[in-house]
Amino acid sequence: MGSQPHVLVIPFPAQGHVAPLMKLSHQIVDHGIKVTFVSTEFINARLTTTMPVNSPIRLVSIPDGLEPGDDQIDILKPINNFEEVKPDHFKDLIEKINESDDDRIICVIADVAVAWAFNVAEKMGIQSAAFWPAGPATLALVFLTPKLIEDGIIDTQGTPIKNDLIWLSKEIPAWKSSDFPWSFPGESRMQNLFFQYVFRMNHTVKLCKWLLCNSFYELDSLALNLIPGIIPVGPLLLGNQLENHIGSFWPEDSTCLSWLDKQPEGSVIYASFGSTSTFNQQQFDELALGLELTGLPFLWVIRLDIANEALSEFLDGIRSRIADSGKIVDWAPQEQVLAHPSIACFITHCGWNSTLEGISMGVPSLCWPYFTDQFQNKSYICDFWKVGLGLNPDENGIITRQEINTKIKTLIIDDGIKTNALKLKQMAKKSVTEGGSSFKNFESFIEQIKH
Ligand code: UDX
Repeated sequence: MGSQPHVLVIPFPAQGHVAPLMKLSHQIVDHGIKVTFVSTEFINARLTTTMPVNSPIRLVSIPDGLEPGDDQIDILKPINNFEEVKPDHFKDLIEKINESDDDRIICVIADVAVAWAFNVAEKMGIQSAAFWPAGPATLALVFLTPKLIEDGIIDTQGTPIKNDLIWLSKEIPAWKSSDFPWSFPGESRMQNLFFQYVFRMNHTVKLCKWLLCNSFYELDSLALNLIPGIIPVGPLLLGNQLENHIGSFWPEDSTCLSWLDKQPEGSVIYASFGSTSTFNQQQFDELALGLELTGLPFLWVIRLDIANEALSEFLDGIRSRIADSGKIVDWAPQEQVLAHPSIACFITHCGWNSTLEGISMGVPSLCWPYFTDQFQNKSYICDFWKVGLGLNPDENGIITRQEINTKIKTLIIDDGIKTNALKLKQMAKKSVTEGGSSFKNFESFIEQIKH
């Protein structure tokens, strides 16, 4: 008769959601709990190719209702299909595990964006925990949407009624309506779809016993205080799993680490824009020329999924020009890169994971947000924590080579920003070290689910 506690972890099928839940899963396994990680067939196939064969995490998949040829990385598709197709598969999976495995499921940990999983768990009498993969300020906004509607601040489509600036509290950066995670200027159908999705999270999340998030109390206590019952357990980092390349959709190109070893300390610009951001060719050109103008070595991640013929030619051109003074990779071991002593700054799209990783490694950021929560993360980085600078597009919506060159040079000599970044790095480390706030929160969560 087996007796090991067993949890099911289910992420929303996108890189920025899978990665932190995989890190959380490893921490859970380290506490003697068995973890089965449930993802869509498409994501599961990707994880299977990048995860080590001896991973302690068991991967299983359920269908996502997408047709062959559907764009599986487009996050709108899962939003549309998710709720209709998945709950039954998920229920069947739990039943099957409980019938065949001695280690019965004691808890379901699901991404807040997979709200239906909580309904399934509740109906089956299984306790559940919600996991929020983005920043506390965004979760506070999500939580307060019913109140904002009730108070006549936004309408039922998520559009502000009177003011364009929404203050959730006087002490933290206000939300500009254009920065709302559901804001898609000129695309009202998309905005409505996202807003309704966000709004529904409010109800279902109330079914869970715990609400975890990837942050730490000292980083944003004011926003965290707006969310009843929130349990910050971050920053979730690879830590001793660093070598295991866990949770990546693309194989990591580790040759950049030996290239970094050859660069002077504090000299390299690292540019990486997460798993979904894209640029047009003009913007690629400006970024390449801006990086070259600085005269500094750079490491630039350009994902293979955005490659096309024009881009291949562009890359060949830039590779022959820069020789060894720059390096371009398809996907980097980002945490190891950011922790490398040669890194001077991080040009980032401000996805929450990248934001936390930059903070945890004490690297100043140059912010280039793209969509959803990234604009608010930029406000925090630049105006609240003061650990970075923002890039501003010109009147044609392009961030020019001059802007890139000037801001990089300003950023790397700014001692105030460097000092703030190092302070946050220490705070982050302390929070996950024995006795720290996130450390204690996580231990207490584990004790509770075990009993
Ligand atoms: C998405 C949203 O964009 C983001 O705003 C939200 O907060 C989370 O979901 P994504 O765009 O992928 O995420 O960005 P981010 O949150 O930064 O996550 C990317 C992850 O991929 C990070 O953990 C980063 O370390 C990793 N990564 C990125 C690599 O491992 N290698 C790379 O080359 C680039």
